[in-house]
Amino acid sequence: MNFDSCPDRANTDAFKWKKYAGTDILPMWVADMEFTCAPSILSALRGEIDHGVLGYTLPSQHTGANQAVKHWLKQQHQWDVETDWIVWMPGVVPAFNAACKALCHAGDNVIVQTPNYPPLLAAPALHGLNRLTVDCVLEDGRFTLDFDALERHAALPETKLFILCNPMNPVGSVLTQAELDRVATICTAHDVVVCSDEIHCDLVLSENAKHLPAGNHSALHEHSITLMAASKTFNVAGLGAAFAIIPNRQLRARFNRASQGMIPWVNILGLVATEAAFTQAEQWHHEVLQYLRGNRDYLVKQINQIDGLSAVTPEATFLLWVEASGLGVNDTQAWCESRGVGPSPGADFGQASGFRINFGCPRAQLETAIRRLKNADEFAQAQQQSK
Ligand SMILES: Cc1ncc(COP(=O)(O)O)c(C=O)c1O
Repeated sequence: MNFDSCPDRANTDAFKWKKYAGTDILPMWVADMEFTCAPSILSALRGEIDHGVLGYTLPSQHTGANQAVKHWLKQQHQWDVETDWIVWMPGVVPAFNAACKALCHAGDNVIVQTPNYPPLLAAPALHGLNRLTVDCVLEDGRFTLDFDALERHAALPETKLFILCNPMNPVGSVLTQAELDRVATICTAHDVVVCSDEIHCDLVLSENAKHLPAGNHSALHEHSITLMAASKTFNVAGLGAAFAIIPNRQLRARFNRASQGMIPWVNILGLVATEAAFTQAEQWHHEVLQYLRGNRDYLVKQINQIDGLSAVTPEATFLLWVEASGLGVNDTQAWCESRGVGPSPGADFGQASGFRINFGCPRAQLETAIRRLKNADEFAQAQQQSK
């Protein structure tokens, strides 16, 4: 694959590119990548389209997609999953919202970490629930969770759910065995269910990090809902296909009841893409991880050379959290945009002092972004030239 060369999305309806349409600001926010999907995924989708009938398909009856999930989880994460445990959802966002609805009553507490993916921060309030936050804290150059806060919050009788984000978005850490053990010990001691958003779990970039699914932890097996998808890893997020793995039958029934009548079936193209991703795109996966690793290392090094900015190497994801309080400006997003770079605003993640850059793009785009961030005149000159 040649990840240096990508289709032009500037004049498409892509969400990421619409935001800055008509400007020369580089969109480096929403978490999809600029890369073309694996040829095997595109070919599977074409095959489905060529059949010509796009009627109903019940996801649990799509044998190929269900077998593919089982195969992938076994191969990538050494997790033996039973077909019954798989609950297809048209997105991870509806899935963690369904978990809130299924497991909590008005006034209950839900724990989330911060900074965090905005819909995760928003979920508790959407269901009349209180949000309790656990900070991601830097320890020995790596982000981990504030476990004392987790323990304090979990011990409250009204706390029913911890929506974990692992690998962490935006800070990029992957929980170690010891960390997941601590989550399990705390949550099971206080009867708090863990709903683990693991959408970035197949984007682990650091060799010393290994993703451990919550549901495959012996203590969490019966106390967890694990959320995954092929969407981020294989760049098929627009197809709306995700799945929850819920080994506990009662928990699964409650989750299914909460979704009833509200959540549509995953569409056939999402199922076909997931099947192809998990069975026929291994080489593409390997190559995209290599490319992302190069992008990450370049970006972290460059960001740390800019006065006022700092970043910690993320172990996973194609997202870099940049701490910008050293700039001494009120609005770090405006500072980036004035230089022609459009990251995600830190305020959306609950931490206005930072911003998040998406590095799932050609290296040349990253290099342009860095030149612009380093030199305020760079963007002005580029704009002059484009007139
Ligand atoms: C942690 C996390 N969860 C969920 C999502 C979105 O999931 P979906 O599009 O499947 O609803 C994202 C997208 O950026 C994400 O980063």
